[in-house]
Amino acid sequence: MSDDLTTTYLGMELRSPIVIGACPLTIEPETARQICDAGAGAIVLPSILQEQVTYSMLKRGAPIAAIQESGYQPQQDRYNGGVDNYLPTIERMKENLPVPVIGSLNGATDGQWLAFAKEIQNAGADALEFNWQRGMYDPDESADAVENRLVAISRDLCETLSIPIAIKLNQNFTNLASMARKLQQTGVDGLVLFSHRPHWDVNVDRMHWTVRWELSPADYLGTILEGLVHARTGGLDLSIAASGGVRTGEDAIKAMIAGADVVMVTSEVYREGPDAIQNIQQGIRRYLTAHHHSSLLAFQQLRPSVELTPQRLMRLEYVDPLTAPTQSLSQSSSPASASANYYDPTTSNSTSSGDAFGHRK
Ligand SMILES: Cc1cc2nc3c(=O)[nH]c(=O)nc-3n(C[C@H](O)[C@H](O)[C@H](O)COP(=O)(O)O)c2cc1C
Repeated sequence: MSDDLTTTYLGMELRSPIVIGACPLTIEPETARQICDAGAGAIVLPSILQEQVTYSMLKRGAPIAAIQESGYQPQQDRYNGGVDNYLPTIERMKENLPVPVIGSLNGATDGQWLAFAKEIQNAGADALEFNWQRGMYDPDESADAVENRLVAISRDLCETLSIPIAIKLNQNFTNLASMARKLQQTGVDGLVLFSHRPHWDVNVDRMHWTVRWELSPADYLGTILEGLVHARTGGLDLSIAASGGVRTGEDAIKAMIAGADVVMVTSEVYREGPDAIQNIQQGIRRYLTAHHHSSLLAFQQLRPSVELTPQRLMRLEYVDPLTAPTQSLSQSSSPASASANYYDPTTSNSTSSGDAFGHRK
């Protein structure tokens, strides 16, 4: 079996491409140790929130006003240990863990609070991940203005820090390749694609929407793969971590072919514990051996580049899957009409007493 899973991410050499994505598991010393024993290449600590940092800066003057102004709530400290504990935790982890420890900040706007990034660096973090959440859109603010805020934050961080910086993006960019290039020009070292989407629903009794935090669903990877390919279009030269829906070695391999240097895994560690890391690594090793790659790096060097294609070819990404005949239809000898060749995504009856479209008889 190919045993060498060494790779690089944000300029750091990692022993494995499996990084445990930001979440409260990584700040628990015993769990973090088990995660490392299972072979993880790096860990990302849960994010410190802009609200927490702003509150801790304002509270000495006027504590009540500080709460109102910052949006801070005490439960936020229960989530990640709080601002005061975060830095000593990084110091302890750096003493005890054999892998890079990545600090994480989550916020929406530029400002004084970003000075906390420097404290994370001073505490010994190997890198910083910035998870940008811009909140609700203001209809009077253009998409350009919103994106410029992120570019300004990234530039600010790059001017302040000497450790590598990764920006964790959401999936809502009209032109991800352009955004990725703008971020590269600010000097950041990598992107994490993508931040987690909370689950939206509507409570019909309360006549209001609800937003819940859930683990990634089983079939989530496809949307991440699409983003990876789009971000790499035109030759982006940044580290990329795939984040979302990686559960198996095969998922990890797919993400790396699509453009990732490492894969972040969170939900699967919640489901299966640290064994998930070993299972994914075994799957990667099996693939490398079966396809005769001497090492992970050798495999990664064969990744196809994503060329800019003419508009006509880009359209085929959508049009081809839509119009391709299904195997059974293409084998059918005498299509009665044009509609008989139309792609029917329903493979079998969806109910025992209904037709192929689920209509009950
Ligand atoms: C319980 C939980 C807590 C998380 N906390 C954070 C966080 O503090 N900061 C962050 O950037 N992402 C956070 N995430 C998102 C993960 O880092 C990761 O991006 C996401 O879960 C997608 O990967 P997955 O499909 O392997 O879970 C959290 C995810 C989970 C499931």
